[in-house]
Amino acid sequence: MELPILRMADELMRTGVCRFLRHFEQRFPREHLKDLAVTASGPGRNMVVAGRRVVNFGSDSFLGLDQDERVQSALRAGLKKWGTHNGASRVFLSVEANREAEEKLARWLKTESCLIYPSVTLTNYGAIPALVGRQDIIVADQMAHDSIHTAARIAQSNGVRVQTFAHNDAGDLERILHRSRPYRHALVAVDGVYSMSGDLPPLKDILDVTTANQGVLYVDDAHGTGVLGEHGRGSVLLNLGHYDNVLVVGSLSKAFSCAGGFIGCPAAIQRILKMSSNPYIFGGPVPPPYLEAILTVLDILSSDEFNELKARLDANVEQLTYGARSLGFRVLGGITPIVSLLIGDEAATLRAGHYLFERGFYVQSVIFPAVPYHGGVLRIQVNSNHLRAEIDGLLGALAEMKKELLVAA
Ligand SMILES: Cc1ncc(COP(=O)(O)O)c(C=O)c1O
Repeated sequence: MELPILRMADELMRTGVCRFLRHFEQRFPREHLKDLAVTASGPGRNMVVAGRRVVNFGSDSFLGLDQDERVQSALRAGLKKWGTHNGASRVFLSVEANREAEEKLARWLKTESCLIYPSVTLTNYGAIPALVGRQDIIVADQMAHDSIHTAARIAQSNGVRVQTFAHNDAGDLERILHRSRPYRHALVAVDGVYSMSGDLPPLKDILDVTTANQGVLYVDDAHGTGVLGEHGRGSVLLNLGHYDNVLVVGSLSKAFSCAGGFIGCPAAIQRILKMSSNPYIFGGPVPPPYLEAILTVLDILSSDEFNELKARLDANVEQLTYGARSLGFRVLGGITPIVSLLIGDEAATLRAGHYLFERGFYVQSVIFPAVPYHGGVLRIQVNSNHLRAEIDGLLGALAEMKKELLVAA
């Protein structure tokens, strides 16, 4: 008899998203470029992948802090001081650096309080279901990060109603909230920066509609943290200037170049989350050495040096977006360091990424289901420690690619 576990794998591979992705894997084994291993890293944004030295345009380390000596030595010092792990759920105990990091994060962010989770995904899985009950409703932007939608489904399994609204459309949000009455309160969830397209939500309009309809706005600003606004405090302060009626989630793994996620919130909410947020209660925390590195990154972000790093990043983003537009590409985003070039067709998107890879530039070919069907993009992530010559090199390769592959632009 065939073991059920073998039949299970076989059947799953032939259905749904696995079937779709498998098709591309089999049809484009060379161009697919997923599941790659980096065998050497540095200098700068160079790396070796599959035996080829390439410039990495796929890193979230927007300010290049992953290679900063001060951040690395804080991590080493943290290892010496605290060892490799916390060894228990924080419900029981956590190292002092955890409390320090949360207090320092809140001071930098200008929120009353903060709670750190091991990742942004786990922040969303922990906070969203804990903030709503059966009489409440979650309404999320249809393009919000997968972890928001999955968190909403966890809440749904507890009896919470869940709806989506059309991307960045405050009018549609209002219609849905109106149609869904009565409810006790609504949690309206959006991304601060949409990570595949780099576009930003109309936060002010969304907050106005939310507040007028018994709602609280929840902004996952994973890609805005450390990049947007004064001292990198993110998209909420940049666009709204305050946190009234807003919960903000940020990343410690992207521009921070450490590990983890956090929610900035009133102290009362922090207390509630500590009592009712499952990944916090039943899971382990960020390893302590990273908390020391987070404290060092906060010193850098809070100092004038942030402006230098940001100016270099902005100049790099500008060089790339100006160059790509001049070549006739349709550039999505371009305000943040996520610059996506619309290619469209899935096969063409995979071929385009592979073409650049062979010429020494790693960018991500993103296809359905991460973006809409036939909405494939070349996702280029710009860092402040990319060299101007590297960006020129990428633009040169994009120009050749357009001619040789005849990709739509
Ligand atoms: C908006 C958003 N939320 C969450 C995540 C996941 O973050 P993490 O890797 O910390 O789980 C991402 C990752 O890119 C993101 O863009």
